[in-house]
Amino acid sequence: MWRHVKQWFVQELAVDLGTATTLIYGRGRGLLVHEPSVVAVNKYTGALVAVGHEALAMLGREPRDVVVRHPMRDGTVADGDLAAALLGALLERARAGGSGRWTYVLIGVPSSATEVERAVLPQIAHQAGADRVHLIEEGLAAALGADVIRPDGRASMLVDIGGGTTGVSIVSAHGVIVARAVRVAGNEMTEAILDLLRREREVLVGWQVAEAVKFELASALPFLTEGRKRLLGKSVVTGELQEIEVTAEEVARAIERPLQIILNAVRAVIEAAPPDVAADIHQFGIVLTGGGSLIRHLDDRVREELRLPVRRARRPLEAVILGMAKVLENPELLAHFRTGSRVPAWEETLLPEDARPSSVIPISAWTQERPRRRRAMG
Ligand SMILES: Nc1ncnc2c1ncn2[C@@H]1O[C@H](COP(=O)(O)OP(=O)(O)OP(=O)(O)O)[C@@H](O)[C@H]1O
Ligand SMILES: [Mg+2]
Repeated sequence: MWRHVKQWFVQELAVDLGTATTLIYGRGRGLLVHEPSVVAVNKYTGALVAVGHEALAMLGREPRDVVVRHPMRDGTVADGDLAAALLGALLERARAGGSGRWTYVLIGVPSSATEVERAVLPQIAHQAGADRVHLIEEGLAAALGADVIRPDGRASMLVDIGGGTTGVSIVSAHGVIVARAVRVAGNEMTEAILDLLRREREVLVGWQVAEAVKFELASALPFLTEGRKRLLGKSVVTGELQEIEVTAEEVARAIERPLQIILNAVRAVIEAAPPDVAADIHQFGIVLTGGGSLIRHLDDRVREELRLPVRRARRPLEAVILGMAKVLENPELLAHFRTGSRVPAWEETLLPEDARPSSVIPISAWTQERPRRRRAMG
């Protein structure tokens, strides 16, 4: 009863403000916004020109008085005012069609966020028009969204490979047991492809073209790649347009370093886990979420290297927002899982990119054909 009365006055929204994508869910209404986290602003006046898909469409083809910006970087706010402008415009869109004068927002914080970065999010949400703000740990939201939380209280492991961060979380029905992150994820793979084209092919292409190459050709198993793609780029040497053909094998080589960093982060978290938790992970395995997990054969690669059961969540891009939606629809979960700045500043949540757990199996041990690789690992 109270819930229905409340809905006349309050719009409750959940926000996954990601480095690459922003999703907004409205309580009782469903998924309302799914847009790239991109804004286009006037260079001279600072006025907002476009947000989301419309802004992304301008990237690389900006009119001369417009710049296209990503207000989020590595999972956290890179430019507060732009982030507030992006969120404000998208909240406005989400509010349209709903009733309620006040806006309550549940917003996800990545596990890699420092206490300062956590404190910034509510400020931005307020600046964007939210009247009340709650925070929730993204790893937990993803675990709820991907349905990996076990009712028996045993631990589950979740790896969320987004655009800017890879969050590695171990959670149970009682809350987060461990959460670590590395600031390497899908964007780093796109950058590696840009780098490959620039250095080895001496050709420059735009971000969107490199993303398309990644979507079409990238594979996490170098020996299971095939395909090629023709592209038009600009020669670094002559400045002229040049057509080149990129192979899946080259792309696999380019994304190997970010992949290794992600795999090492997962290994490091498992190695540091208490024995009972490690035993649960051994039994139930790992669930992958986030857009970065859509790289072909990534699940197979993690399974092969860590020798654990691994599966990709059914809706990897939406796991975080689905989890937050569950929390909004079941307020008792909110009381149970709400995050303040509960993680103390002295707790190290960010893994160094060169985290080297003792059990690293060199890639050379298994990039050969399958039978030999198995023996090498055996
Ligand atoms: N089909 C696909 N194949 C490969 N990569 C993909 C695919 N779809 C999306 N991605 C990549 O997924 C990343 C975005 O994932 P996601 O939306 O989960 O990130 P985010 O939540 O915005 O970022 P973060 O969680 O780091 O803040 C981008 O790097 C994008 O290129
Ligand atoms: Mg994310």
